[in-house]
Amino acid sequence: MRIDGVIAVVTGAGSGIGRAVAEALAQRGAAAVALVDLAEAVNTVADELGAASTGTKFAAWVGDTTDAGFRARVFDEAAERFDGLVRVCVPAAGITRDRLAVKVDRETGQPDLYSDADFRLVLDVNLTAPVYWAMEMVGRIAADRKKAGLKAWSPDEGEQAATVFIGSVSSRGNRGQVSYAATKAGLVGAAATLTQEGMFHGARAAVVHPGFTDTPMVRALGEDLIKDFVLPHTHLKRLIATEEIADAVCFAIGNASVSGSLWADGGWQPAP
Ligand SMILES: NC(=O)c1ccc[n+]([C@@H]2O[C@H](COP(=O)([O-])OP(=O)(O)OC[C@H]3O[C@@H](n4cnc5c(N)ncnc54)[C@H](O)[C@@H]3O)[C@@H](O)[C@H]2O)c1
Repeated sequence: MRIDGVIAVVTGAGSGIGRAVAEALAQRGAAAVALVDLAEAVNTVADELGAASTGTKFAAWVGDTTDAGFRARVFDEAAERFDGLVRVCVPAAGITRDRLAVKVDRETGQPDLYSDADFRLVLDVNLTAPVYWAMEMVGRIAADRKKAGLKAWSPDEGEQAATVFIGSVSSRGNRGQVSYAATKAGLVGAAATLTQEGMFHGARAAVVHPGFTDTPMVRALGEDLIKDFVLPHTHLKRLIATEEIADAVCFAIGNASVSGSLWADGGWQPAP
């Protein structure tokens, strides 16, 4: 899949990995990047990336990725504004709601289970929404192909679309992250299924699994936790730079043979 000249949508683009992915796509010649985030900061990101880039157009949309109406509006407006279909989707918006799955209340001795409201929220933001953003893109490509009288895709047409989900090392399990880990592992099954079905339309999906990366999400853990529980288990002995994850994402987009999981984890080997 050529990044050069493509129209991309990146969610979570107001911060961290999403922002770095948007920047990396521009450096590799993307025609346009739709930047999506819940935070107004995404407007500033669009201005900054736009000022630094020569050829790439940027536009920002502020909204919640779990809102289906908002999602459809972004795709409608991006197609109109950038004069073409979105063919690269990196739905990077994500949240954590960390807590041990099961505790026992010290006073009552009763089990205290992880909040199911938090579980559903993390599921909505980290799994359901990214999968629907990918399906929104593929659906529009499928409809466009049908309109053009095209049936099953063939390789000589060139790849039509690529989704790269942002998984996590936590997809293998991580203490205190029962909801987060479940969503990130879920993306692997979704990507495999979207590839099996999507290749009828020439659309592929893959997952990049970052290790602990230097973003506000990780800095929120606190310096002590990073020093004592993260860095000792990371071969790199430092947090991963957002640019390194963005580079892995661009590799996964650009190399059509990548359809599964790509680990950009800095050698994360947590203690059992
Ligand atoms: N930082 C890491 O170490 C790390 C490791 C593995 C995976 N990840 C994943 O990478 C992705 C980006 O994380 P990050 O570290 O850059 O975090 P971040 O907090 O810096 O950025 C996440 C962005 O997503 C936005 N967002 C959250 N919920 C949203 C919603 N419902 N709608 C729209 N926007 C929403 C936030 O406003 C924020 O700007 C996430 O999916 C995260 O799970 C991060």
